[in-house]
Amino acid sequence: MPIYLDNAASSFPKPESVYRAVDKTLRSAGNPGRGGHGMTIAAGRLIFETRELLGALFGAPDSARIAFTSNATEAINTALFGLLLPGDRVVTSTMEHNAVTRPLRVLEGRGVTVVKVPADRTGFVDPEEIRRACAEKTRMVVLSHCSNVTGTLQAVEEIGPWCRKEGILFLLDAAQSAGVFPVDVEAMGIDLLAVPGHKGLLGPQGTGALYVREGLELTPLMYGGTGGHSASDLPPETMPERLEAGTLNTPGLAGLRAGVEFLLGEGIDAVRSREAELLRRLIDGLGQIAGVTLYGPLDPGRHGGALSLDIEGVDPSEAGFRLEREHGILCRVGMHCAPDAHRTIGTFPRGTVRLSPGYFTTGEEIDRALTGLAALARSKAS
Ligand code: ALA
Repeated sequence: MPIYLDNAASSFPKPESVYRAVDKTLRSAGNPGRGGHGMTIAAGRLIFETRELLGALFGAPDSARIAFTSNATEAINTALFGLLLPGDRVVTSTMEHNAVTRPLRVLEGRGVTVVKVPADRTGFVDPEEIRRACAEKTRMVVLSHCSNVTGTLQAVEEIGPWCRKEGILFLLDAAQSAGVFPVDVEAMGIDLLAVPGHKGLLGPQGTGALYVREGLELTPLMYGGTGGHSASDLPPETMPERLEAGTLNTPGLAGLRAGVEFLLGEGIDAVRSREAELLRRLIDGLGQIAGVTLYGPLDPGRHGGALSLDIEGVDPSEAGFRLEREHGILCRVGMHCAPDAHRTIGTFPRGTVRLSPGYFTTGEEIDRALTGLAALARSKAS
């Protein structure tokens, strides 16, 4: 059996209940919110319950402020394009994924000023540097909670509440942290929260969500039918319909609900401590292999699931190919869609080999992966 160490890209496997929920819904769901027969009502209830569950998970005062999207990228784009105007100033970091960097680059072309605060070599962004960068009037701070390259966890608790006090909007990209670390929109001062459904939340691909704090009204990215107020040719003002034009991914959201229920059943703390234990084992083992350089904070307490490394003398693309072919290890290599992060940690343009265990990874799989990596490193050294 291959060893799947690419959970930062998409968690695998999913809990059995996720597969069952998708299958059952695909065989039974009508279109939520469209019409009044039993199948649409059941689908609408399922969507409502999924929204409520996410609201509870993220401490949202009102789950209606959560709009479903097809991924975290759509959520981030909706937040950025829905709020930022020419003349606005945005502070972000050099550890962002292209899901943040690219829309901001486009917005720069439309007159938005973008300031990137450099992270240190471990990928950590000093909150003081963020505050300093906001000395000039700033509309929004955008930050990824946990890097998809180095796994570095940012001190969001120090940044969000400060932004709230200063009247600066705070958008958190929780692509790697949702379901892995506690996220509480109120305690962390988060105005906008973007999450994928298919990573730490253990749901299917094609699901995601954007939380929008009460009082913020975004210009939608898309317009169309929302099921209600059908006589009007204008989009609804109310959330979540305002940001949910078109039929939702009901089977996917049924899977997402099952994923979150699984997580809550196991307990986020238990999931987190299992992942931290696997990471510790991986970091300790890799530290013994000559020719391996590790990036990011090596303390699992400040580290999400993604661990980047380099093997001396082996290009990451060759490493990825050989790890799969010779040792059955599935991982991601290269830029991981985050070139700025590689410039920050000194691995641009080669990129890194990234290993990301998940909740279902076993200790035995970590040991087998370490044996494979050691063999690869030795083959180049000799
Ligand atoms: N953003 C995902 C990753 O880091 C796809 O692999």
